Amino acid sequence: MKTVSCSMLSCDFSQMGKELERIQDAGCDFAHLDVMDGAFVPNITFGAPVIKSLLPFKKIPFESHLMIENPENYIDDFIKAGSDIIIVHQEATNHLDRLICRIKESGAKAGVAINPATPLAACEEVLGNIDILLLMTVNPGFGGQKYIKSVTDKIRRAAKIRAEKGYGFLIETDGGIDGETGREASAAGCDILVSGSYLFKSKNLEEAVLSLKNA
Ligand code: DX5
Ligand code: ZN
Repeated sequence: MKTVSCSMLSCDFSQMGKELERIQDAGCDFAHLDVMDGAFVPNITFGAPVIKSLLPFKKIPFESHLMIENPENYIDDFIKAGSDIIIVHQEATNHLDRLICRIKESGAKAGVAINPATPLAACEEVLGNIDILLLMTVNPGFGGQKYIKSVTDKIRRAAKIRAEKGYGFLIETDGGIDGETGREASAAGCDILVSGSYLFKSKNLEEAVLSLKNA
């Protein structure tokens, strides 16, 4: 069974608490919260106060995907807002190792994300110290984009390095994940599937979640 992390970017933001309850009831394992600052990515979404406002509804781990410049300046805010997992972009910081240590010292799980054009080698030195490697399967900033097939090989290579070195990180993919691309990413070695528009556009949310769990 795969882990399903539902990206709230495609939810009805006017009902975000109720939408969180809906995805929890449908069996999603994580709530994936896409934080965007309009600088690291060409879009702006929400910050720590919005995540904090969801705590009364929270029954599953919050995975905060920080698509922001200088994430080191905001780690405490996102921890206090209730993030169980904090994912930072390798491309957004000069001191990735220090940032990962800080996230883990604060008690959250640490994830590193890389964009489709970023080589695996850019984060190879920290793979032994992270909980999640997030391989973006779209260029970050928007939901509803098409899965970039060239990343499938990157998933395979990450799984190979993990096996060879005996590392414990989980591989996660994010962007354009539906039943078919979910199967492709899973077959290549992905453990956690992030999905937004496929889930929120589905006629039957429970069935759509199950299709990814069984991918
Ligand atoms: C994109 C975000 C993704 C996105 C996934 O920058 O990081 O989490 O919302 O949405 P879909 O599944 O619609 O591609
Ligand atoms: Zn995301």
